[in-house]
Amino acid sequence: MSPSSIYDLFSVRGRRALVTGGSAGLGRAMAEALVEGGARVAIAARSDRVLSVAKEIGAVALQVDLADRQQALALVDRAVEALGGLDILVNDAGAQVRHPAEEFPLEDWDHVLAVNLDAVWILAQAAGRVMLAQEHGKIINVASLMSVFGGITIPAYAASKGGVAQLTKALANEWARHGVNVNAIIPGYMDTQLTEALVGNPDREPLILSRIPAGRWGRPADMKGTVLFLASAASDYVHGTLIPVDGGYLGR
Ligand SMILES: NC(=O)c1ccc[n+]([C@@H]2O[C@H](COP(=O)([O-])OP(=O)(O)OC[C@H]3O[C@@H](n4cnc5c(N)ncnc54)[C@H](O)[C@@H]3O)[C@@H](O)[C@H]2O)c1
Repeated sequence: MSPSSIYDLFSVRGRRALVTGGSAGLGRAMAEALVEGGARVAIAARSDRVLSVAKEIGAVALQVDLADRQQALALVDRAVEALGGLDILVNDAGAQVRHPAEEFPLEDWDHVLAVNLDAVWILAQAAGRVMLAQEHGKIINVASLMSVFGGITIPAYAASKGGVAQLTKALANEWARHGVNVNAIIPGYMDTQLTEALVGNPDREPLILSRIPAGRWGRPADMKGTVLFLASAASDYVHGTLIPVDGGYLGR
């Protein structure tokens, strides 16, 4: 293969992508990567910041509260209408709430599960229907190190991300033979708003950093290569897997 055709394998040119959580952090970086790769991208997030970020990065904005089941159920149709179809879904939006397990309020449990797991399922099912009909599509879920570990004071988050990992495999088992790839990325400890309680925390940060072989927090841009791989033909025979982008954390 000539260099240009091998890079074509990683192309998302002309593909239509919905990225939830695309207004900030990892989702924004993944949306940028898809735009930079030539895809037409819609970013979906809760606050009206999604409008200005969409303008900045050259995407379409879809404001949505994914904790609201009716709004979640309508989102894929809105994306299909805005983009003229759907080839790629990145399920990035996520919420984090911290309390000791014995004090964890039920409403916080419900919120975290609604955003991190129910919405992932609702969007994957709706996108899957579109993708099965056209016999191709890429669903990329954002899992977590807490899909593997239990964490501390984050029982709802750990339960939801464990669910995302299993859901990824379950959907891949049914849809792989129909040309729909379902995979997940496991980001390591990334410096975003979600981890602001940890970055610079004198008790937690030294322990975290000492365990990361790469020796630094991950950055949103570290997600770009893996999302392009999973969104493009380069990953056509990759199904139901969880790819760590974690500076080596899981191998330690
Ligand atoms: N930062 C990390 O270290 C890390 C590690 C592992 C996994 N993750 C996962 O990566 C994903 C992105 O995390 P991040 O660090 O970029 O977080 P972030 O807080 O910077 O961004 C979260 C995004 O999700 C959106 N969102 C949150 N609640 C929403 C709701 N109810 N409706 C619609 N949108 C909503 C926000 O608008 C925002 O765009 C999450 O699924 C998170 O669990 C992050």
